[in-house]
Amino acid sequence: MASQILIAMDDLETAVRLNGAFEAAKFSTAMFSSLDDARGAVRRENPELVILTGGVHEPHVQQLAALAHDSEISTLALLESTDSERAERVERLRATEVMTKPVAPDDVVATARRLVDRRHLQERTGIVGESAPIQEVLVKIEQMAPVSSTVLIQGESGSGKELVAKGLHDLSPRRNGAFITVNCAALPETLLESELFGHEKGAFTGAAERRLGRFELADGGTIFLDEIGEIPMSTQVKLLRVLESRTFFRVGGTQPIKVDVRVVAATNRALRDAVTLGEFRDDLYYRLNVLNIYLPPLRERRADIPLLVRRFIREFAKTHDRPFRGITPEAMQRLVNAPWPGNVRQLRNLVESMVVLAPGAEIRAADIPLDVLEGAGTLLPMRMAAVGQGGGGAVPAEFEFILRSLVDLRLQIEELRRRLDDHPQRVQVIELADHSTVADVMSDNDRDGDHAVLYRPGMTMAEVERATIEAALKEYRGNRRRAAEILGIGERTLYRKIKAYHLE
Ligand SMILES: Nc1ncnc2c1ncn2[C@@H]1O[C@H](COP(=O)(O)OP(=O)(O)OP(=O)(O)O)[C@@H](O)[C@H]1O
Ligand SMILES: [Mg+2]
Repeated sequence: MASQILIAMDDLETAVRLNGAFEAAKFSTAMFSSLDDARGAVRRENPELVILTGGVHEPHVQQLAALAHDSEISTLALLESTDSERAERVERLRATEVMTKPVAPDDVVATARRLVDRRHLQERTGIVGESAPIQEVLVKIEQMAPVSSTVLIQGESGSGKELVAKGLHDLSPRRNGAFITVNCAALPETLLESELFGHEKGAFTGAAERRLGRFELADGGTIFLDEIGEIPMSTQVKLLRVLESRTFFRVGGTQPIKVDVRVVAATNRALRDAVTLGEFRDDLYYRLNVLNIYLPPLRERRADIPLLVRRFIREFAKTHDRPFRGITPEAMQRLVNAPWPGNVRQLRNLVESMVVLAPGAEIRAADIPLDVLEGAGTLLPMRMAAVGQGGGGAVPAEFEFILRSLVDLRLQIEELRRRLDDHPQRVQVIELADHSTVADVMSDNDRDGDHAVLYRPGMTMAEVERATIEAALKEYRGNRRRAAEILGIGERTLYRKIKAYHLE
């Protein structure tokens, strides 16, 4: 389907000229003149780009830009060459891109095409963000995906390295081949080698069969070497050989094996420092670092936080089936200012926990754990993350585990509630407001057959118990053995209570 472009008519002449150029270039366009029109169009047309043709100092244009920004729609703003305080105005507009008039319509079309392609790229990779550093990362992914050169991705834990690696693969001509991940830190030295290169039958005790390694499995595709900074020296030598010749031996093997694999590696260590310290081979470092992508920490691209928060709220409200409205401006401001040592992963986990655990239908400032604002990596009210493993503010695995358990627990309780609602017990307790009658509170379905125990405000436990026993006896037509069984009490106890409550 043709890409939808919305053109604001603040500068009518430019708008009309652009409209012609876009139509000639086979884009589908719509023009609008007021903020209300624009709102309707944004909702109806689900456009991919909004072009602001002028009046960037007008409040309605700024509101429109904000609307587009919040709806994750790119904006292209055209400025007058006479626009003073330009930088400040552009900053306030938060436009994805700006051009200065006079503009050649074809140049605008070319820029628009680039922005639309970028947006598609974000949809395909799941990478959210309008900030300059993220836009740079996206440009790099676009440039690097088509070739087979090795890429080194660097960035703190949780900053999105795996997302970028997957994006490089999904946009490459290898996309139909395998994408194989190896976490180099998770395995001891000997296992890591047989994991990477495979082993022959009988290569070592326990090697009962020949096993293919990850490099062979990734043939024709991409291998993602995560936490490359952690591989031991001896494996570094072997890896270097593979990068140089694309050939290797299975452990215990004598036949060289050749593969066609693209290598993408990632690390949250400053690999150059590891080289200086003598912990990482410099020749391997240069082989890996042919192309590189640096993901800045979230605290250096705070402008993306609102977009990420909104995206995650939508995502988790949907997965957990919650009628979640959003977040208050104050809460959002706090999230924007928080230090985020655990980066996007920490933010994502926090939003999930708040969507599930927050008492209301929106995130309020009071729902945000204090430690998040103070910079602990954990989402729980504990201070240990600051001294957690590895320093550097990584979110320790145990905390993620605890958080996940809490979220799961809450979801299980709700599931249980739902099931109980779907299959009510035959004996129900119904709360009656002061003047209501049974008929008021029971639906038609309930009325026939079931035996309700009515609770009226002010009833004592004994009265509730009496009513419950009465209902159970009625249900089982006076069969005391069955009634006792169903009530979970002994038959003798039931007899006693029947006597005490004068139910005979
Ligand atoms: N720009 C982004 N837009 C949307 N989601 C993101 C973005 N960056 C990261 N995420 C999400 O945050 C989480 C962490 O990202 P990812 O696993 O890619 O981090 P990482 O850099 O590989 O971390 P680590 O070093 O700990 O392995 C994932 O759920 C990922 O989908
Ligand atoms: Mg990772």
